[in-house]
Amino acid sequence: MEDTGRHLLKFKGYYFKRVGLDVDFLENLDDFEIRDDDVFIITYPKSGTIWSQQLLSLIYFEEHGKRTENLETVDPVPFLDARPSHLFSTHLPHYLVPRGLKNKKAKVIYIYRNPKDVMCLYFHFSHKWAENEAKTTIEEFMELFLEGKVTGSLWFDHIKSWYEHRSHFNIHFMMYEDMKKDLINSVLKVCRFLGKELNEEVLDAVVRQATFQNMKYDPLANYESILNSQPEGKRKEGPFLRKGTIGDWKNHMTVEQNERFDKIFQIKMKDFPLEFIWDIN
Ligand code: A3P
Repeated sequence: MEDTGRHLLKFKGYYFKRVGLDVDFLENLDDFEIRDDDVFIITYPKSGTIWSQQLLSLIYFEEHGKRTENLETVDPVPFLDARPSHLFSTHLPHYLVPRGLKNKKAKVIYIYRNPKDVMCLYFHFSHKWAENEAKTTIEEFMELFLEGKVTGSLWFDHIKSWYEHRSHFNIHFMMYEDMKKDLINSVLKVCRFLGKELNEEVLDAVVRQATFQNMKYDPLANYESILNSQPEGKRKEGPFLRKGTIGDWKNHMTVEQNERFDKIFQIKMKDFPLEFIWDIN
């Protein structure tokens, strides 16, 4: 365990946020029992975690959609922590997840998003969340991001290693931008992967309740209570669901920053087969 300053701790080569980190749990994570009906959402931070938590909550729990139970979106799909849930969400790299996931019975959904948007909205998020290292400018944050000195470590490593080890898992890759462009189709694909059949009415309801507009103003789905749980004075104003668009990086990055990013991207992602969508057109 390497101590890397105020915000992060490095465990087995991967950066975790320091606050709330349960090292004993991590030490024993490999042996965490995995069941056949478990479903894991895996994301690099800021790639659509809460959105996919919302989708799984709605797909699996009618009570969540109908609001007959006052569940926060994250309640039915908590961050990997403990039973009784069978749906989990985590940012872990492939080599730290419980060994049992590799038996291919449990299912893994990996959500990814173009890294320029990820970087820019991570920059915004770091100002809202006291446990992150906040930087004043994108330029400064880009240094951290490109060195992987953020919770989640290096974006390039995260996606590449999950993809390279895909044959060890029962895994479905889903792109944030595809969800954005055609949510019904993305939900249908996820349902097929999960072996879930939703009738048309339920499917419509899932999609309606998982739209950006709906989630942004839904206090159970917009992380407000979680942001508000931060220590007094640590939080800057601003909603968790900010814009939810594709290509917002264009409003943040200079031409030089973009060129630098592209060069690094081309080197790091050489021969990587998945496509990315960088803007709305
Ligand atoms: P923005 O900052 O662009 O708004 P994560 O949950 O992994 O931290 O990712 C957060 C990002 O996902 C935020 O991006 C948030 O708005 C976006 N998001 C959450 N729900 C969404 C939805 N229903 N549609 C589109 N984007 C959504």
